[in-house]
Amino acid sequence: MPSGLDAAEAVSLILNYVTAYQMLHRSVKVRPGQRVLIHGAAGGVGSALLQLGRLAGLEMYGTCSSRGAPVVSDLGTIPIDYQNQDFVKEIHRLTGQGVDVVFDSIGGTHIWRSRKALRRGGRVVAYGLTSSLRGGRLASGRSGGRHRYRAILIFGLYIAGGWLLPGRKRVVPYSIQTLKRLKPALFRQDLIALFELLQQQKIKPLIARRFPLAEARDAHELLGKGGVTGKIVLVSNASSLESGAA
Ligand SMILES: NC(=O)c1ccc[n+]([C@@H]2O[C@H](COP(=O)([O-])OP(=O)(O)OC[C@H]3O[C@@H](n4cnc5c(N)ncnc54)[C@H](OP(=O)(O)O)[C@@H]3O)[C@@H](O)[C@H]2O)c1
Repeated sequence: MPSGLDAAEAVSLILNYVTAYQMLHRSVKVRPGQRVLIHGAAGGVGSALLQLGRLAGLEMYGTCSSRGAPVVSDLGTIPIDYQNQDFVKEIHRLTGQGVDVVFDSIGGTHIWRSRKALRRGGRVVAYGLTSSLRGGRLASGRSGGRHRYRAILIFGLYIAGGWLLPGRKRVVPYSIQTLKRLKPALFRQDLIALFELLQQQKIKPLIARRFPLAEARDAHELLGKGGVTGKIVLVSNASSLESGAA
C-alpha cells in the first residue's frame, strides 16, 4: 500500500472498489456518455460504482431506499426509490430506449427485470444475491447447498435466455474470486490503479464507523442491525479512529 493513505479507506478498496472497477472496465468496458442503472446504489459496491462511473463519464441512475437517496444524488446519480417505484417503468420514462448496462446485485428473478430496463444490445452484469438474504440468513430457508444450486441454475437460464431471445441483451456474471483466481495479475493492476485514484482524492470510500478492535462485538451488532451506509472498519490503534489518519 502506498504511504500516506488512510488505512480504513485503503482497506475499503479491496473488495467493493475492485469489484466495481472490474465490472466497469473489464466485464463491460464502459464508454463515456453511456447510460447505466446501478441497483443498491447507496450500498458498498453501489457507491463505489457511482464514484468510478462518474470518473468514467457515465449517465447514471441508481435504485435505493429513500434513506439512501441523498448519498446517491450527491454522487451525481438520479435516485429511483425501489420500494415505491417500478424501476423498469421509471428507466424507460427517463431514458426512452433503456440503459446500456445494469449492474444487478439483487439476483434471482430480479435479473430478468433488470434485463427489461436495457436498450437493444445492452448488458446486465449480475454479481450479487442480496434478495436471497434476510437478517443475515437465507430468506428461502433452504440449505446453503440447495440454495447455491438453485441460484446457479437461475443464472444459467438467464445467460442462455440472453443469447436465445431477440434484442441481443446479455446477462454477464461477475465474481471477484473467480477473476482473481484465473487472472491474479489483473487484480493487482486494478488495485494499484485504485490506490492512485485514492491518493489523487478522486475517490472517497464511505466509512460509516471505525471501531477499535476490542469493540468488534459492537461493530458486528451494528452490522447485523442493517441500515448502515458505508463500511464499518475495525482499527488496531487509536490514531486510526480519526478520519484521514494513516
Ligand atoms: N460477485 C462479486 O464478486 C461480489 C463482490 C462484492 C459484493 N458482492 C455482492 O454484492 C451485493 C452487494 O454488496 P454490498 O457490499 O454493496 O452490500 P451493502 O453495502 O449491504 O448494500 C446493499 C444495498 O442494496 C440495497 N437494496 C436491498 N434490496 C434492494 C432492492 N430490491 N433494490 C435495490 N436496492 C436494494 C440496500 O439498500 P437499503 O438498505 O436502503 O434497502 C443496500 O444499500 C451482495 O450480495 C454481495 O454479496 C459480490
